[in-house]
Amino acid sequence: MSQSVLDLLNDATCSVFEQLGFPTELGTVRESDRPDLAPFQCNGAMAAAGFLKKQGEKANPRDIAAKVVEKLSGHEAVAGLEIAGPGFINIIPNEDIIAARANALLSDNRTGAAKVAPKSIVIDYGGANVAKPMHVGHLRSAVIGEALKRLLRFRGHKVIGDVHLGDWGLQMGHLISELEEEQPDLPYFDAAIEDGFPSESPVTMEDMARLYPAANAKSKADLERLKKSQLATAELQAGRPGYRALLDHFIRISIEYLKRGYGDLGVSFDLWKGEASVDPLIPDMIEAMKAQGITEESDGALIVPVDPDYDAEKRKGIPPVMLRARTGAVLYHTTDLATLTDRKTEINPDLILYVVDQRQAMHFEQVFRAAVKAGWYERDQLEHLGFGTVNGKDGKPFSTRDGGLLRLSDLTDMMRNAAAARLKETGIGQDFNAAELADIADKVGMAALKFADLQNQRTTNYIFDVERFVSFEGKTGPYLLYAAVRIKSILRRASEQGIKSGAIQITDKAEAQLLLSIDAFDRALGQAADKRAPHILCEHIYRLAQSFSRFYTECPILKEGVPDDIKSSRVSFAQLTLRQLELGLDIIGIEVPERM
Ligand code: ARG
Repeated sequence: MSQSVLDLLNDATCSVFEQLGFPTELGTVRESDRPDLAPFQCNGAMAAAGFLKKQGEKANPRDIAAKVVEKLSGHEAVAGLEIAGPGFINIIPNEDIIAARANALLSDNRTGAAKVAPKSIVIDYGGANVAKPMHVGHLRSAVIGEALKRLLRFRGHKVIGDVHLGDWGLQMGHLISELEEEQPDLPYFDAAIEDGFPSESPVTMEDMARLYPAANAKSKADLERLKKSQLATAELQAGRPGYRALLDHFIRISIEYLKRGYGDLGVSFDLWKGEASVDPLIPDMIEAMKAQGITEESDGALIVPVDPDYDAEKRKGIPPVMLRARTGAVLYHTTDLATLTDRKTEINPDLILYVVDQRQAMHFEQVFRAAVKAGWYERDQLEHLGFGTVNGKDGKPFSTRDGGLLRLSDLTDMMRNAAAARLKETGIGQDFNAAELADIADKVGMAALKFADLQNQRTTNYIFDVERFVSFEGKTGPYLLYAAVRIKSILRRASEQGIKSGAIQITDKAEAQLLLSIDAFDRALGQAADKRAPHILCEHIYRLAQSFSRFYTECPILKEGVPDDIKSSRVSFAQLTLRQLELGLDIIGIEVPERM
């Protein structure tokens, strides 16, 4: 694969700085802040002057810039150079270089995206809880995690996504004890029965959605009721067969339901493991940690101190990890540590990423420190990728009208309906049959939801504003879908008129600009992957769509009077843009309809 235009200019400029006796990296070329003047700039002359001053020499950045320009001006990749302000060097690339790059990208099905040395990576995302309804936080985790998984795979890594279900806490005790109150005669509640339980589940998803909140509400009002749930939890964790059999039903039913919900969202997991699945590993893990001498007894609980400067009274530092509570129960820390040992033996990954609400940052810091202390991982192999909350227009965490938790399916339905309404309003897709129109509404709704989430810096909070999300104007998912579909329709019309794709030529500034946007793909992917920041890729996709739209206004493809070779060159441009738009959108989990 040829080099990107930016890389070519960067190499040329860096080598000029080196020839002039400056540190090479001072020649770094970047995208310009003033693309109206030139697409690229180098700001190294100011730093070079500082470099000379430190050595006691007189230096003026504009003079240095002039020297750089003089040496660079004959270079084949450079068409124009200009010094601005205190010594900024504006760089205009040569159009032949741009055309050559465009033709190289045209024959590359990855449109310039490189592959990197593969690592084995686990992404822990989704994180739904059995019995507890999902909330928008789980939705963010699914959307961001899925995008990162696809991005890292596209870069060439071997990535395994694990949903890590919450299926081992008090909510299980709530479900079991509430079901017992409703149907005490079920065999699961007879302690004398140890096997031969029915293979049919005694509950449906709807039952669970009713049982859990009922038990939760009663337990809040009544300590005795809470104790029942706690006892059931402890007995379950101690291995009572009837309860274990019930848990298996709960998990199976939930996974069926969740697979549908996540499937609707275009989110899929390689592993459907959870907290319960690693429970059998806990006793040996605790024994091993004890033998290493890293555990301590504290008030009857078993802990692992993870911060020598921790001060409980002053509430300073990182509190110890809690392996086992005084009651004998294992906790969230414990199951996460057991999961780390499981991943070590089953997968032995280079890296584990946790896409979980920012509010769990302390939990992960504690768990990671303990895992490092136990010698299972290096600290830089474990990363918590937190994200902010989704708020309603009132600034409070987004929830249902009555303040309850939101179901994933309600949320996706809401997006679909809003998308359908917007399509109707704008008249888009209204001549198609009902099935196709519904499919378009579905894709528009999901694009709206995902792009609205992913375009934000991961750690910021954002406001859930359905009307804005489904708009076809501005920086939205629907705008991008529309842009992609429009290119498809241009290409269809071109092919009807018998215009074939041909070698790319640069005849207009808008063409050069479009190619330079396309050419930034690999850089955007690299930065988004390294910073675990899908918004960088979103920004790239948005700019690409904008560049195409400018190109299409300035550079007609189908218009009479345009020479055939130029028409063919522009068809190639449209193909190349569409290919990259679809690659980029697919990475962020957005599907493009055939027409709209
Ligand atoms: N189930 C958890 C919750 O709802 C999220 C799980 C995140 N992953 C993990 N390995 N702890 O808060």
